[in-house]
Amino acid sequence: MTRKPSAHRQGYDEESAQLGKQLINQLAILFKTSQIHDWSNVALQQPTENLARTLNQLFSGDPDVALNLEGDFLYLGEMKLKIDIDGFNNLMLITDEMKKRRVGSIIFSRGISEVELKRFCFIFTSLDARLPEPFERLQEEMEKAHLTNPEITVYEEKKEREEPDDLFKDNRELAKKTYLNTVTAVSEVMESVKLKQAVSLKRAKRVVQSMVDLILQEDSTLLGLTNLRSHDEYTYNHSVNVCILALAIGQRLGYTKKRLSELGMAALFHDLGKYGIPLEVLNKPTDFTEAEWTVMRRHPIFSVKELVRLKGINEMSVRVTIGAFEHHLNYDLSGYPKLANKRRLSLLGRIICIVDCYDALTSSRVYNRVPFPPDKALRFMLNKSGKAFDPILMKIFVNAIGVYPIGTMVLLNTKEIGIVFASNPNPERGDRPKVKIVLKPSGEEAGGEVVDLSDQDENGNFPCEIVSVIDATKYKIDVAKYFF
Ligand SMILES: [Fe+2]
Ligand SMILES: [Fe+2]
Repeated sequence: MTRKPSAHRQGYDEESAQLGKQLINQLAILFKTSQIHDWSNVALQQPTENLARTLNQLFSGDPDVALNLEGDFLYLGEMKLKIDIDGFNNLMLITDEMKKRRVGSIIFSRGISEVELKRFCFIFTSLDARLPEPFERLQEEMEKAHLTNPEITVYEEKKEREEPDDLFKDNRELAKKTYLNTVTAVSEVMESVKLKQAVSLKRAKRVVQSMVDLILQEDSTLLGLTNLRSHDEYTYNHSVNVCILALAIGQRLGYTKKRLSELGMAALFHDLGKYGIPLEVLNKPTDFTEAEWTVMRRHPIFSVKELVRLKGINEMSVRVTIGAFEHHLNYDLSGYPKLANKRRLSLLGRIICIVDCYDALTSSRVYNRVPFPPDKALRFMLNKSGKAFDPILMKIFVNAIGVYPIGTMVLLNTKEIGIVFASNPNPERGDRPKVKIVLKPSGEEAGGEVVDLSDQDENGNFPCEIVSVIDATKYKIDVAKYFF
């Protein structure tokens, strides 16, 4: 049967909790004894009697006693069985043995005899769970022994593997929605500023909050979305990317939600002052003239003016505004605008300085005409660590985005070409991210299977690894489509 039973009985009360623990311990003892003795062996007698006694106590409240497995947790009916030190091993044993046989529920019904209990435990434990279709074979064996409804029933575990995928999909959908909402929010503000209309930052604040929530849960998906490059909406996408990358650093600095929101707002509006630069200058395919550079270099000051006008003066807006003012200044103050008095950059300013440069270098617009692949951009920036960029923050940034940042195109030893899809959560395994296969060795398009390069074979070797980084622009591959 594949139907999951509706959970019967009991709310949470001390007596049921106690009986639940007792049931688990006694069932585990019976399982263990059944593994070494035949079902008719006398050694099984005492454990069976104990289990039957507990079941009878439970039957007084409900004719069915259900042990339900939900993910990694075992429930007695609807009551989650709490783990304590004494019962931990037994609870784990039952959970593991149920999982191995793909059993989601075991239901004992009132009237079950001790013989049936013994036989069930014997059949259950003697089944070789390594062979295919363990659940189906368990049912067959139970039928052969006439152990079927209503005394004892087993139900198959829900197809658990589908659940993380679904969750993953949901998270990705949510991340995409948030990304696009943020692009809309920033474009609205910038357009209103340009047209000198009244501007509200409410929506922007809301989307930044959502970004913060997402980055705190899992940052791979959002970081993947920073690969979106749109020529028409460069400034908007760039603002959102800078916001995501800045949050990835802030999260690693242990920022509170409030400070992350502050950082997110500063990052999102660091280029607000670009409204004053004509599009033909911003999108110019050739180098800027000196006059154009003069205009360009003014945008941090325009950003300050607008932010002060929009947000008024308070503690938070001052930090956000300073961050925007400093984003091209560089750690060593070698950037612009030129300062009359030397001073240290704020933390927000130093963070935005790094992530702004990274996104600009890896995008197809501004400052460089040919975008750098992510690893090259990082190497270029690491050379300026301690000069243009705060060396400690630079290290944190590299850690956050990995040696192979999400979106890097790579050649594997299997001769497949893939795109780094998620970084390895273990920073020491930064060289073994998850890679989405996009081209087969034959050059044909692949189905987008995701390979975890940290997976080992039975001998402890890594069958898949990165041989080299490929420049996606040379191959005219739109990396973003694999994330959107
Ligand atoms: Fe800028
Ligand atoms: Fe920027």
